[in-house]
Amino acid sequence: MYSNLGDWRRSHHCGELNASDIGKQVTLMGWVRRRRDHGGVIFVDLRDREGLTQVVMSPEIDKDVHQTAEDIRTEFVIAVKGEVDHRPEGTVNENLPTGEIEVIVKEIKILNPSLTPPFVLDEYGNVSEDVRLKYRYLDLRRPELKDNLIMRHNIVRAFREFLYSKEFLDVETPFLTKSTPEGARDYLVPSRVNPGKCYALPQSPQMFKQLLMVAGFDRYFQIVKCFRDEDLRADRQPEFTQLDMEMSFIDADDLMKLIEEMFINLFDKVVGAKLERGFPVMSFDEAMEKYGHDAPDTRFDMFLKTINDTVKDCGFKVFAEVAKSGGSVKAINAKGAGEKFSRKDIDELTTFVQSLGAGGLAYIKVNEDGLQSPIVKFLGDEVAANIVEEMGAKPGDIIFFGAGDTSTVNLYMSKLRLKLGEALGLLDKNKYSFVWIVDFPLLEYDENEKRYAAMHHPFTSPRDEDLELFDTDPGQIRAKAYDLVLNGSEIGGGSIRIHRSDVQDKMFKALGFTEEEKERKFGFFVDALKYGTPPHGGIAFGVDRIATILCQADSIRDVIAFPKTQRATCMMSDAPNAVDEKQLKELFMKFDIVEDK
Ligand code: AMO
Ligand code: AMP
Repeated sequence: MYSNLGDWRRSHHCGELNASDIGKQVTLMGWVRRRRDHGGVIFVDLRDREGLTQVVMSPEIDKDVHQTAEDIRTEFVIAVKGEVDHRPEGTVNENLPTGEIEVIVKEIKILNPSLTPPFVLDEYGNVSEDVRLKYRYLDLRRPELKDNLIMRHNIVRAFREFLYSKEFLDVETPFLTKSTPEGARDYLVPSRVNPGKCYALPQSPQMFKQLLMVAGFDRYFQIVKCFRDEDLRADRQPEFTQLDMEMSFIDADDLMKLIEEMFINLFDKVVGAKLERGFPVMSFDEAMEKYGHDAPDTRFDMFLKTINDTVKDCGFKVFAEVAKSGGSVKAINAKGAGEKFSRKDIDELTTFVQSLGAGGLAYIKVNEDGLQSPIVKFLGDEVAANIVEEMGAKPGDIIFFGAGDTSTVNLYMSKLRLKLGEALGLLDKNKYSFVWIVDFPLLEYDENEKRYAAMHHPFTSPRDEDLELFDTDPGQIRAKAYDLVLNGSEIGGGSIRIHRSDVQDKMFKALGFTEEEKERKFGFFVDALKYGTPPHGGIAFGVDRIATILCQADSIRDVIAFPKTQRATCMMSDAPNAVDEKQLKELFMKFDIVEDK
């Protein structure tokens, strides 16, 4: 019935045949990766998901077959029947699993022709990413992208299998829902049947997974899309995938232990890497001091150090003033950079940090015969010598300095640290350096809004011993939160939750919610906490980020089948797009667009 193929069926896939199959009659189907005409004999590299096989059409074997092969072009879909043979001497391809053989074609069918592709798949490096994204279905035929998606599949599969073995239940939660605060803007969906009202797409399933704990589900997980309208960066997508988890009757230690086991299992299964038990744990304060960032890249030891005390009375005004006025002067010793970095390199680094808000990039180059620096004459020899000593600098090293308000200095010095690591060859893609970051502040003060915001989200529990600080100094409250960081990427974050409604009330109050706001936004959730909520906690991981690292991909887009651009558009489907007037009417909607000046 409904035949496309008649009695033709594949006997093998294109990555399968080798010398042990010589003499077999086979049927292969796939895409023409390349067609070469060698003086009458036509060679085709036939490709499918599993690999490539060379098939040969010669007029001496069959005139009609050869005739048909003349019409074949790149990316045609064809079927061939033939016999497996040795490749002639000198033409064996050691790099290909099927490289010893070829198939001598006796029958051929063109299953479907193809337009000339807009770019040569093997030469994708020469085309812009926009073109590749427009023709994503062609780009995905490239082995590199296909392998990434297979890796991603293996990651998700290993996660699932591990969690099933630990009695986690896979439960779905709604997409058409109410806002979940995770710090980004919501994507809204207007409701036709409830005029003037909107659903919000979830920034995460946070409240639902906690409600599943209230409901007694004990251990939950879901591999789920989350939607966040935020400024996109290299490691962010507007819709991305979380491995989301929650557990009841546990403390942070129990969860962290289980997560380590999950990652040890994952890395073993998907890349054969043996990770050591007992991932390092670092406090937020230590991470900010030594790395200037809460997602430190711990693959290499090169640390920032605050040197306020050393420079507060020195003659270099910029440093002395910053040190005395509550800012930070931080230094980093780029070991062995002296030989590698020219004056021009240092100028480039200066421009780089200036683009991130630095006033400049002072440095001291330690030479055998003394110090070379634009600031030693201001610092004075004694202070300069003290700094060199404090930073453990030796001839051949360069110490770089940042001075200003602490958060700006941390921002550019942390980026500078990574640049130095890269330039000095310290970012080994085959090294996997995990670290837990703990003891986050519960709240951070938003200078623009003049109020506190949750550092993680409003459901994160304060440490028990810090509860009183709600009334005296909320900024000092520490959270029962933890992030998992891998090679400088925040791959996951979570917390032990507030399970008492009185504490949850305090939290909302500290965040400046009025009773009315609290009721409107979270009434259902606060009510639920009053019906017997178990102590619980959880975590969520960024699957796209984990896949990016394990695929050693340059961009998060390279591990997503159909990603969005940095402007949150889909080049292929043209989403988002204008919609029919009729659709808008049904939704009682009108746009009121004010042109940006
Ligand atoms: P959080 O907001 O830290 O926590 O998100 C968890 C992890 O998701 C990944 N991630 C992203 N990946 C790609 N694109 C994005 N735009 C993006 N945003 C986040 C990161 C991050 O570590 N509900 C809490 C979890 C919990 O408390 O259990 C949450 O969503 O790798
Ligand atoms: P100036 O006195 O402005 O010429 O600065 C002397 C050196 O200090 C130059 O190398 C500047 O790049 C550097 N510098 C100036 N301001 C800062 C700052 N806020 N942080 C770090 N270095 C700075």
